[in-house]
Order: sequence, then C-alpha cells, then structure tokens
Amino acid sequence: MSTALKDLAPRDRVIVAFDCGMEEALALADALQGKATWVKVGMTLYYAAGPEVIYEMKRRGFKVFLDLKFHDIPAQVRGAAKAAVENGADMVTAHTVGGADMMRAVAEGAAEAAGDFGLDAPVTLGITVLTSMDAAALAATGVVRPLPEQVLELAGQARAAGLSGVVASPKEARALREKLGPDAYIVTPGVRPKGAALNDQKRVATPREAIENGASHIVVGRPITKADDPVAAFEAIVASLE
Ligand code: C5P
Repeated sequence: MSTALKDLAPRDRVIVAFDCGMEEALALADALQGKATWVKVGMTLYYAAGPEVIYEMKRRGFKVFLDLKFHDIPAQVRGAAKAAVENGADMVTAHTVGGADMMRAVAEGAAEAAGDFGLDAPVTLGITVLTSMDAAALAATGVVRPLPEQVLELAGQARAAGLSGVVASPKEARALREKLGPDAYIVTPGVRPKGAALNDQKRVATPREAIENGASHIVVGRPITKADDPVAAFEAIVASLE
C-alpha cells in the first residue's frame, strides 16, 4: 500500500455510491469529477450497464469500488476477480462465508490481474454478515454463534486468507479495528451527516464518528446523490472529516 491507511486524506476516504441508472451515474460523475476519488458501482447498476460503467468512471479519473459480492467455487471467483480488475475495478468484494480457499482465490485473481497490467494492488473486501440479517435470520442458517462474534470471526478469516479488509457497519468498526490492526481496510456504509434524511438506514453514524470508530473509508449514497447540490454535499462531508 503506498499510503498508510491512517494517513489517508479525508477526500480519499469518502466513497460515493451510485445506486441509479447509467444516465444519472454519468451526470453525477461529471459533476464530481476531479473532486471525489472513489465511486461505488453496485450490482444493480453493473448488471444493467455492464463493464462500460467502469470504463466511463475510469475515463473521468475515479477509482472504482465494484461491489458484486463474489460467492462461488474458487475457480469462478478467481476468474471474476481477475476480470473485474482487468476491467478497471480498484476495489472488489466477496462473501467471507465462501470459505478460506474461495477468499484466497479472490485475492490471487485480483493481484494477478493487477500484476499483468502493472497496476497498484487492488483492494479486496470481505462481506461478513449482511446487515439485513438479524440474529434470528443468522440462526436460521445454522450459525449458533452470537452475531457480533460471527462478524469478528469471519473478518479475522478474511484477513488470514489475504483479503485487504471488510465491509462493516460503523457500529462494528471499533471492535474490528481492534481485532484487525491498523493495516486493514474497514469500509462502512450506513453513514449520515447530521440532519440528513435517514432514508431506509436504521442505525447510522456521522461520517466523522465512523472514521473515529476506526473506519478507513465511508460509503455515502443518497445524502450526496439526491442532494440539490451533490458537489456541495460531498465537500461538506469531506470538510467534516478535516
Ligand atoms: O444511500 P446510502 O448512503 O444509504 O447508500 C449506502 C450504500 O451502501 C448503498 O450502496 C448500499 O447498498 C450500501 N450498503 C448499505 N448497508 C450495508 C451494506 C451496503 O447501505 N450494510
């Protein structure tokens, strides 16, 4: 990693989530070009628009967090991670419950593609327990360990298998930072500036709280993308981290 995570500039810590169609994503990208460092492309936009959306973001100078949450046999996820990085993804995600061999294949596929193109090592993130699941939903899958323990256990496994870090809620960030140490990426959605609409987010932290709790990056969607002035909303969040 070129810059230690603790030394990242505030601007490089805010990932703007584009949960919309291609047309709206391009308009937002044009507005945020030269200001935001990272954009997140999730599966709805990607499966609708295809790799073209990555090319368009890269053309505008953004780093791309491609959040497709790989989960398949190792040979498949290796190929998926490799193709994603070859197409320009700088950050990818995989489900940790796919197991150590699967996570290792993601890390290797991503690194291989970057090596082939002489690119920086891509960031590989593990998904532990989806925040849409509660304790009962987790128990129904046969996991008897308490949910917070399961999150920490899977996060540890992700690091041991060579992933860069995890996606987590800001509420989990502190315990994760303690367990994973200073070099792990901890990327947290569920972030709302003071006074912003919660939309469907239930347990939120402010951008500053998330970073103070140990997040290396925050993912912010609607507070920026649905703002009357997305650039001003983005800059206000950056300023709140200064
Ligand atoms: O618009 P908003 O800021 O709520 O967007 C948050 C982004 O983070 C969305 O892309 C959403 O899919 C993602 N996310 C989340 N909660 C999680 C995991 C991902 O909100 N637990």
